[in-house]
Amino acid sequence: MKILVTEQQIQDSINKVAEDIRAREAGKPLTVIAIMTGSIVFLADLMRKLDLPMRVGVVQTSSYKGGTTRGTLTINSDMMLDVEGRDVLLVDDIFDTGHTLEKVIEMIDELRPKSIKSAVLLLKRGRQEVTMRPDYVGFEIPDEFVVGYGLDYRDMYRNLPYLAALEESDLVDHA
Ligand code: IMP
Ligand code: MG
Repeated sequence: MKILVTEQQIQDSINKVAEDIRAREAGKPLTVIAIMTGSIVFLADLMRKLDLPMRVGVVQTSSYKGGTTRGTLTINSDMMLDVEGRDVLLVDDIFDTGHTLEKVIEMIDELRPKSIKSAVLLLKRGRQEVTMRPDYVGFEIPDEFVVGYGLDYRDMYRNLPYLAALEESDLVDHA
């Protein structure tokens, strides 16, 4: 595994994203909806840097049926908050093809929020298959499979405090 983004670089970037959100949302109460499980660490750091009145809920999506290939997307919204008439900020770990965020936005849009914006820690360059883009992006990274800081490979490595790119020799089953 090789380190792609250090702990310090992540914190610097989140400070910038938080400043940007604070400036653009101008003290409006936010309904933050985090897309689990990958965004868990980003959410924890970002929300503590956002000095705004906020409620926090989560949805869970899963598209990876294991490994690095994509399966069918399912959304579990049992732990979401009411969003009708609210300014919603979606938080996700990484914008890859973009299908996950697009589907979650479609689902939330039907519940008639006042606005929907989205913040992602990472955007994988050249991988997008949708036209929308997140409003706030921490880093653009090359097309590599990354783990750490909430991101997993087969549910492992989420606890690494930095972001690392997986190498061929890491693609083994730890279960
Ligand atoms: P998308 O729907 O293709 O944009 O994929 C988004 C979801 O796939 C993210 O929320 C991640 O959970 C997962 N994902 C995409 N790329 C990576 C990666 O490099 N490492 C770990 N998870 C990833
Ligand atoms: Mg995810």
